Amino acid sequence: MSKVYDIGVLPGDGIGEEVVREGLKVLTAAEQVFGFKTRREHLPYGADHFLKTGEMMPDAAFDRIRQMHAVLMGAIGDPRIEVGKLEFAIIAGMRFKLDLYVNLRPIKLMHESLCPLKDKGPADVDMVICRENTEDAYTGIHGYFKKGTPDEVAQQTMLYTRKGTERIVRYAFELARRRGPKPGAKAPKVTLIDKANAVRAQDLWTRTFAEVAREYPGIETDHAYIDAACMWMVKNPEWFDVAVTPNLFGDIITDLGAMIQGGMGIAASGNIHPGQVSMFEPIHGSAPKYRGQNKANPLATIMAVSLMLDHVGESRAASAIEQAVASLIRSGRIRSLQAGVHGTDELGTLVEHEVRAAVGARA
Ligand code: IPM
Ligand code: MN
Repeated sequence: MSKVYDIGVLPGDGIGEEVVREGLKVLTAAEQVFGFKTRREHLPYGADHFLKTGEMMPDAAFDRIRQMHAVLMGAIGDPRIEVGKLEFAIIAGMRFKLDLYVNLRPIKLMHESLCPLKDKGPADVDMVICRENTEDAYTGIHGYFKKGTPDEVAQQTMLYTRKGTERIVRYAFELARRRGPKPGAKAPKVTLIDKANAVRAQDLWTRTFAEVAREYPGIETDHAYIDAACMWMVKNPEWFDVAVTPNLFGDIITDLGAMIQGGMGIAASGNIHPGQVSMFEPIHGSAPKYRGQNKANPLATIMAVSLMLDHVGESRAASAIEQAVASLIRSGRIRSLQAGVHGTDELGTLVEHEVRAAVGARA
């Protein structure tokens, strides 16, 4: 009997619907080739749903999702709605309410033509950022004093817990162990990225990292302040293997990372609680101006499908999708990752066929 996975499908706003449609096309191909099945449940949340019903994301939706294996999300954000409102209810809602404490963001360059850095190729850009996903400035603890007056004061808390820090640090070490050393390296490496010299509360990260590292003698450790890490990522991206960092810095540095792997057209992420329902999404936003124009690049969502399959345990299917995308890029059949160069549906179909063809050829 083939395995069946319950997948929530939340296309969201803007280009979300189109890119998710293509992601599902590739998922269907992977199911047929690798012999598993999905039961898909549409989750209608986003701007249109909110404007029609006044509902953002009800508790009942989270209860449904808790029964599933994974959620595939498109994008959230719409100019008709106050900045951050839907993002907070839906994206942060899932991250917090489902306790998805790992934001896993692989940064892997598939072909040197996609990299804006001089003289850097796929061997140089191959790292995974483990962004803490449930704490820091994202907990929403903020306030104003004398709002709207010349004496206004605004504050927001960067909050870290020992448990929250330890579990993401531990995840990073476990991941490094699974990945093994990079070609030419003696051992896998985990780099802590923080700003403990200025944000002294992050001393908790310094101490926790050192303690957890002691349990992994076979793994090399490194440290970079976030400002320097941005510099090294541009200058010497090959220094990074697995990196672990608090939520806010992780948000920022993974946009930089997306650029050195080819841009928002291909960068994907997993919001993960190991062993529990988790959510997968492209890093890019909803790009409302491209909505419905068949211009958006669905490869980031397709890569999110790959991460999702890895999470549920279909690792062969996951790597077949990654290989298919890589081979289309390396062979020049995908010429560019820029929006509008290829049609949204054209890219989805190319990957779909490549997944089937590659596996057919091996069989
Ligand atoms: C991301 C996004 C979100 C974040 C926004 C939309 C709230 O930028 O997933 O990286 O800051 O986490
Ligand atoms: Mn971001």
